[in-house]
Amino acid sequence: MICLSQKREAWIITLSKTRSFKVAVLIILSLAVLIGGAAGCGKKPKPPAKKPQPEEPGAKFFPTVKPSAGAGQLIYNSKCAICHGPNGAGDGPTAAKPHLKPANFTDTKFMRNELLQDLFESVTNGRKAMPKFKKKLTTEQRWDVLFFVWSRQTSPMQLAAGKNIYTKNCLPCHGRLGDGRGSRASGLRAKSPRFNDPEFMMKEKSNNFFAVLTNGEKLMPSYKKTLTDDQRWNVIDYTWTFVYTPAPK
Ligand code: HEC
Ligand code: HEC
Repeated sequence: MICLSQKREAWIITLSKTRSFKVAVLIILSLAVLIGGAAGCGKKPKPPAKKPQPEEPGAKFFPTVKPSAGAGQLIYNSKCAICHGPNGAGDGPTAAKPHLKPANFTDTKFMRNELLQDLFESVTNGRKAMPKFKKKLTTEQRWDVLFFVWSRQTSPMQLAAGKNIYTKNCLPCHGRLGDGRGSRASGLRAKSPRFNDPEFMMKEKSNNFFAVLTNGEKLMPSYKKTLTDDQRWNVIDYTWTFVYTPAPK
C-alpha cells in the first residue's frame, strides 16, 4: 500500500514474525484501511469550492489594486488605438471597415450610462467585433487600460474644476478620501456612500450619481440650483478618481 507510513511498515514486520502470514496480512490490511482512512492516507484535504475569479462571467468585477490610467494609456496605444482611435473617439484606422463600429469613449451619453464592471467584462471576454483580452493582458492591465478609456469622457481641466467643487461642497460629508467620513458625516443618519470603494463604484452609473446630485436623496442635498450642469458633471467625474489614478494628460 503506498499510503502506509514507516511506522505502519514496522508493525508489518513485527506481526509477520509472530503470526501466520495470512492473518498478518488481514490485520495489516484492515489496519491500513482504518489508519489510512483516518489519516486521509496522506492526501491533502479536499480544497473548498473554487471562488469565482474576477474575470469569470457572473463574478463581481472590481479591481483589487488601484488602477492607473497612465499605465493604461501605454497599453491603449499599442493594443486599442488601432480600432478605438488615438483619443478614444472610435475612429482608429480599422474603424473604416463597415462591420467594425468601435465604441467611442468620448461619447458621454454612452459612457455615463455604462457600469465599469460591464465594460471590464467586454475587455476581458470580448463583445461582437471587439476582441477579448483575457489572455493578452493581466487582470491589472485590463483595469489600467479600462480606466484610461473611462477617463476619455473628461479632461484634467474638468477634473481639477470638479475637485474644487468637491472640496468646497461635498468634503464635509463625503470626506477628503471619498470614504464618507467628513466632519459632518457623524451627524448623518443615512450612511453616505463610499466613493473610494471599488466594489461599490464598479456597479454605479454616472447618470445615477448625477440624478442624486441634482435632485438630492434623503440627507443628500439637491444641487440643482447651486451648481450648473457642467459643474455637476465635473464633480461626478471627479468622484471616480477616488478609485483610480488619472493619467497626467
Ligand atoms: C479589432 C478592433 C478592436 C480592438 C483592437 C479593440 N476594440 Fe474595443 N471595441 C471594438 C468594437 C467593434 C466595439 C463595439 C462592440 C459592440 O458593438 O458592442 C468595441 C467596444 C469596446 C468597449 C465597450 C464595450 C461595451 O460593453 O459596450 C470597450 C470598453 C472597449 N471596446 C475597450 C477596448 C480596449 C480597452 C481595447 C484594448 C485593450 C480594445 N477595446 C481593443 C473593437 C476593438
Ligand atoms: C449634508 C451632507 C452631504 C453633502 C454636503 C453632500 N452629500 Fe452626497 N450624499 C450624502 C448622503 C447622506 C448620501 C446618501 C443618500 C442616501 O441615503 O440615499 C449621499 C449620496 C450621494 C450620491 C449618491 C451615491 C449613490 O449611492 O448612488 C452622490 C453621487 C453624492 N452624494 C455626491 C455628492 C456630491 C458631488 C456632493 C457635493 C457637490 C455631495 N454629495 C454633498 C450626504 C451629503
